[in-house]
Amino acid sequence: MSAANRYLVSFDARDTFHRFTDVLVIGAGIAGLRAALEVPPDLTVLVVTKDRVTESNSSYAQGGIAGVRSPEDRFEDHVEDTLIAGDGLCDRTVVELVIHEAPHQIDKLIEWGTRFDEENGHLALTREGGHSHRRIVHALGDSTGFEMMRATISTARTRPNIRIWDDTFTIDLLTHTGACVGAVVARNGMGKFLIWAKQVILASGGCGMVYRETTNPPVATGDGMAAAYRAGAELRDMEFMQFHPTVLYVAGSARYLVSEAVRGEGAYLRDVNGERFMPAADPRAELAPRDVVARAIFRTMEKTQHLNVYLDLSHLDPAMVLNRFPGINRACKSFGLDITKDRIPVRPGAHYMMGGVTVDHQGRTTVPGLWAAGEVTSSGLHGANRLASNSLIEGLVYGTLCGRGATDAIRKMPREMTALPLRCAIPPAEMDARFDIADLTASLRSLMVRNMGIVRDRTRLLEAKENLRFWCRYALSRELDSKAGWELQNMLTIARLMIAGALARDESRGTHYRSDFPTRDDARWGLRHVTSEPFVALA
Ligand code: SIN
Repeated sequence: MSAANRYLVSFDARDTFHRFTDVLVIGAGIAGLRAALEVPPDLTVLVVTKDRVTESNSSYAQGGIAGVRSPEDRFEDHVEDTLIAGDGLCDRTVVELVIHEAPHQIDKLIEWGTRFDEENGHLALTREGGHSHRRIVHALGDSTGFEMMRATISTARTRPNIRIWDDTFTIDLLTHTGACVGAVVARNGMGKFLIWAKQVILASGGCGMVYRETTNPPVATGDGMAAAYRAGAELRDMEFMQFHPTVLYVAGSARYLVSEAVRGEGAYLRDVNGERFMPAADPRAELAPRDVVARAIFRTMEKTQHLNVYLDLSHLDPAMVLNRFPGINRACKSFGLDITKDRIPVRPGAHYMMGGVTVDHQGRTTVPGLWAAGEVTSSGLHGANRLASNSLIEGLVYGTLCGRGATDAIRKMPREMTALPLRCAIPPAEMDARFDIADLTASLRSLMVRNMGIVRDRTRLLEAKENLRFWCRYALSRELDSKAGWELQNMLTIARLMIAGALARDESRGTHYRSDFPTRDDARWGLRHVTSEPFVALA
């Protein structure tokens, strides 16, 4: 990995606005807000988010939150399902911790006002791929994230010690003698600020936008992962991007997620000729884990030379379908599709990054003073393939741990905080040719679909590596001054780490499938992670 600037922008602490807070939380999805809400009222918390507070992957979650709630279900089964989906790479201690905590976290959301769907006076539970029981709570049918975030944001707004700054882009984490001491941010219309914090919690989400086809909202550009990397944090498992099997594929539509819960309620996948192909691919058929279903769809599309497959709900009770999936119905209807009768064209799209900033069992990163929770991390819960609906629960549990851990650390620190004499001066770029950020962003996103998609091999990975080496040389050495520019620089950084991981892992496991090494190789890989090479800053 070639060198890049330590900070994306120039700044000098002597002439930049300052702000002080006990805890800085970067990201306002469920992990970030859960962390903020865990900090006691005598400590100040500043939550920064680059868009509106409602704009996170958490808000778009459809399916729901997994947790053992029914008498027929058992913690051991949820643990086992998670380990099976994770394909040998999960950390059992983390899996057990998160799964045992799940019901309490769901109760907390209810306490904060989340209205989950009910049936006969009990929480309604659905099923998704890889789950052996119905254990997924949901809200507003298929808008779980929206309802959960509504309640959580309202609760956070009632806390006098929590401030939320939206439209605030975290450009970089500030470090001093190896520890994280805050962040340099750009506030819309107000320029750069240096935020000094006693402890920093990173909860900035994932990076689906590195792919042209993704279920993620435009904010998911891996900024927190890239900033942590530049700050010296270890990242790992970056080869494991999960592809959601069923993303609406209609010309003119944004890549809209069609929840796995649709298959959980009995929908079939069919090829262009109307044949079901999942029963032949896996005994669990449409309810196999996501990596299995996504690969089966990929192979079916290749075999039939058709750009998509179809979800078929026409054999299900139309009243149940409309009641359970009002959001999906609305989305499909706007393209003239009746989900109770028509087949829905779908194909896989990038959905969730299992890799990320390495955290320990408390949410500590390898950089002192920096904690992390949610999709930005690799905690050991998901292994090589996340079990459906296990991510919101991870965000809730690790958000809680980070909030507590940061609080305990602050109690042991001096009360006063001062600004440090940090500065960075990036020499002006010599190149004066036009640099088209949108064009390079589009090229990167296409390259990732072509060369780092569901099926990979050494030749295509090396080609991608070479492209990225060339692009990074001119895109990472210069100072850009816009959100789109910083996002591009972050996505290039993340893409390089992903490709390095995919090249290193010469086996197939979970979502990482190498056609030149098509089997899982426990003898050589076992529980090994691919950790990122340390970041090298330009002099
Ligand atoms: C879905 O509703 O299919 C997405 C749920 C998840 O990714 O966990």
